[in-house]
Amino acid sequence: MATAFALKKPQIKTELPGPKARSIIEADSQFVNPAYPRPAFKLVAQRAAGVWVEDVDGNLFLDCNAGVAVCSTGHCHPEVVAAIQEQAAQLIHMCGTDFYYRQMPELAEKLDEIVPVARPTKTHFANSGTEAIETALKLAMHATGREKFIAFFGSFHGRTLGSLSLTSSKIAQRIGFKRQALDVVHVPYPNDYRNPFSAEDCGDGGAAQGGLNWIENRLFKTTTPAEEVAAIVIEPVQGEGGYVPAPKGFLAGLRRICDEHGILFIVDEVQSGMGRTGKMFASDHYDLKADIVCIAKGIASGLPLGACVSRADLMDWKPGAHASTFGGNPVAIAAALKTIELLERELVANSAEIGAYLKSGLEKLKDKHNCIGDVRGPGLMLGVEFVTDRSSKQPDPELRDRVEMASFERGLILLGAGPNSIRWSPPLILNRENVDVALEIFDDAITSSR
Ligand SMILES: Cc1ncc(COP(=O)(O)O)c(C=O)c1O
Repeated sequence: MATAFALKKPQIKTELPGPKARSIIEADSQFVNPAYPRPAFKLVAQRAAGVWVEDVDGNLFLDCNAGVAVCSTGHCHPEVVAAIQEQAAQLIHMCGTDFYYRQMPELAEKLDEIVPVARPTKTHFANSGTEAIETALKLAMHATGREKFIAFFGSFHGRTLGSLSLTSSKIAQRIGFKRQALDVVHVPYPNDYRNPFSAEDCGDGGAAQGGLNWIENRLFKTTTPAEEVAAIVIEPVQGEGGYVPAPKGFLAGLRRICDEHGILFIVDEVQSGMGRTGKMFASDHYDLKADIVCIAKGIASGLPLGACVSRADLMDWKPGAHASTFGGNPVAIAAALKTIELLERELVANSAEIGAYLKSGLEKLKDKHNCIGDVRGPGLMLGVEFVTDRSSKQPDPELRDRVEMASFERGLILLGAGPNSIRWSPPLILNRENVDVALEIFDDAITSSR
């Protein structure tokens, strides 16, 4: 085992999936929820360390997905494991809804220091991204007495009924679930590569201005009175929608609109937060202060934890209004405190540095392969969009899928995002040598997939 992880390159020894993997996949298909949106390639993980994942048949993969942007400090970081073990030996659960323990205020105070929300803040602890979003939606309704929301096409905020009303990245997420539980209108997300707005909408302000005009000149003047909107909800870098960063000026414009109309600004940093973009939060790239921020995924290196952090004055609801049995479990919080310590010590900086190195390598591949239409994103939240050719920009989702599969067959774990992009969301401990190995495989996977 130790020897396998000491290797500097992936090692594929069996057909994929191998014999042990196949039997687990078979059992899974018999007993486990078939709605999990698993990709065409099948990875059955057994053990992992750092950026390496070993499957049940002894194949070794370089992980550039990190369990969908969760294992921020790498797999089983020794300091995180020690923090979890120590906490588990002392107190596993006490139910913060009814009792107290020191970890809750400790993490809430730390979040108060680092989140992109004007201080002072208060934090609700949840177990997942979608629960953090549910909290934000309830809080916005409670605090404003309003019930309409504005969200964006291509967004993903979760699959519980409230967050699902916002989510709009794939029809599969909606089909069969009837009308939206909440009153949400969707606006095209201003994507610089594929500007969805007309020249008239944009004026000379590009996609960002197009999006702002859409809200102020269309929504507010037709279907959606500004004074009835509780909140605007946005991912500063769209995740499941294809790793699309909001253009400069757009978030500041939304902030202005919110301030002018008493609308709350909810920023979903579930995927883009915790160092992923080379700053602690994607909002920090835009000098943005939200009213409410939602966090999950990378916050606890793989233990389930979500947080909804809001301006303290907004959280004046009464006991019983919102709470969770498991949310803010002491073991998950111990993992989060250690994760934040590691992020602040070195990993946010590493995300920025190695992200720039990876991005320049991907841009070189773009020069080489005409089927790469766009390389985008900050830090280690990078999207590569596949097209039939760069001049037509016609999306090529089949090619994207083939590249994803070919990378896997060569021992590189990558996952699609949006209709025709591949996301790079590796552990934030990735180093230059890992990048060189990954880019060589990716290059070869693209060549063989065309
Ligand atoms: C931006 C964003 N928000 C919310 C969620 C939902 O998180 P969870 O799957 O933990 O409920 C996700 C999950 O991918 C996400 O990317």
